[in-house]
Amino acid sequence: MTVVLGIESSCDETAAAVVRSDGTVLSDVVRSQVEAHAPFGGVVPEIAARDHLQAITTVVRAALSDAKLSLRDVDAVAVTHRPGLVGALLVGLQAAKGLSWASGKPLVGVDHLVGHLLSVFLRREGEADTAADVCFPFVGLLVSGGHTALYLCHGPRVEAIEELGATRDDAVGEAYDKVAKLLGLGYPGGPVVDHLAARGEPASSPLILKPPMAHRESLEFSFSGLKSAVARHVAAAGVPANDESMAHLCAAFQDAVVKTLVRKTLHAAQSRDVRSVVVAGGVAANRALRAQMRKACDARELRLHVPSLQNCTDNAAMIAYAGAVALTDGKTDNLGLGPSPRTALPRQTRKGRGKRRPTG
Ligand code: KG4
Ligand code: ZN
Repeated sequence: MTVVLGIESSCDETAAAVVRSDGTVLSDVVRSQVEAHAPFGGVVPEIAARDHLQAITTVVRAALSDAKLSLRDVDAVAVTHRPGLVGALLVGLQAAKGLSWASGKPLVGVDHLVGHLLSVFLRREGEADTAADVCFPFVGLLVSGGHTALYLCHGPRVEAIEELGATRDDAVGEAYDKVAKLLGLGYPGGPVVDHLAARGEPASSPLILKPPMAHRESLEFSFSGLKSAVARHVAAAGVPANDESMAHLCAAFQDAVVKTLVRKTLHAAQSRDVRSVVVAGGVAANRALRAQMRKACDARELRLHVPSLQNCTDNAAMIAYAGAVALTDGKTDNLGLGPSPRTALPRQTRKGRGKRRPTG
């Protein structure tokens, strides 16, 4: 059994964790920068990079000491090197290289999206162990602030993961954050909109919103239209005057989003004849998404696996675990490893408008 130190700094969380190759999390430290970005209503890349630089040493030290280990005891240092904000990635990457060089332990570069898709295999003390029930192949719905896509995962390695369809424009978490900003609800928007939507009724909303890209055969997503519809509504009618109509509007937005995600995920599983579904990424914390996906999967006898909330949002445990999988295959990187804003997973959905290949 190997033990890997993972480091994550791709966006607005500075994180480090120590994980065993069977998925057991020995420590997991996440330091959120959310307060630094909140006044701007979104992540400011320059602030993110500077903040990571201040926090990284403390966070890595805490991860090792929580695991009661020293650098000598780990078998490798895994680090997110793509996709993400390049200035932010550089901080974690440089820290990981320094630790690898100083300790002589191998360096393993990890794709953040692979980390999210594998987060379902993490095992934490005090949590029900669901990792053992998950088996390949599964359809993975990855929903976060930076990415929204459906994948067919034949195995845990990059080469075994196929994109079935992704967003043509905004990621779903980005849409939540932008709509929340338009409605004056603060940042990050997802949890607030989720909370308000639970008290609202889509049919009573001052703005009726339909699920976007509803044609059955397409596995691509588009969320910018919902955001624009909310922006037009706010420009014409202003922000809902009372809590009740705010809740109805949030419910209408959330209903359109969740219906789209559930419908396309089920279509992906059925069209590929896959019996297991995994939902990962920050938006997988959404209560309506979890509930409606569960209902829909149960009705079709599909097995649904949703990681615990800690595993859904950005963390380094998922990076350490993905690093351990790569290490098992003998895949390590040298000190020339660089950052990239793009994922290593082959993309087939083009951003923007225009003609597409059918993806159903
Ligand atoms: O995976 P994540 O922590 O970071 C990225 O890799 O992007 O996801 C963050 C995103 C944010 O956009 C946040 O608004 C959204 O996840 N989010 C939610 C909920 N909790 C977090 N969206 C909807 N409902 C939630 N409960
Ligand atoms: Zn993420």
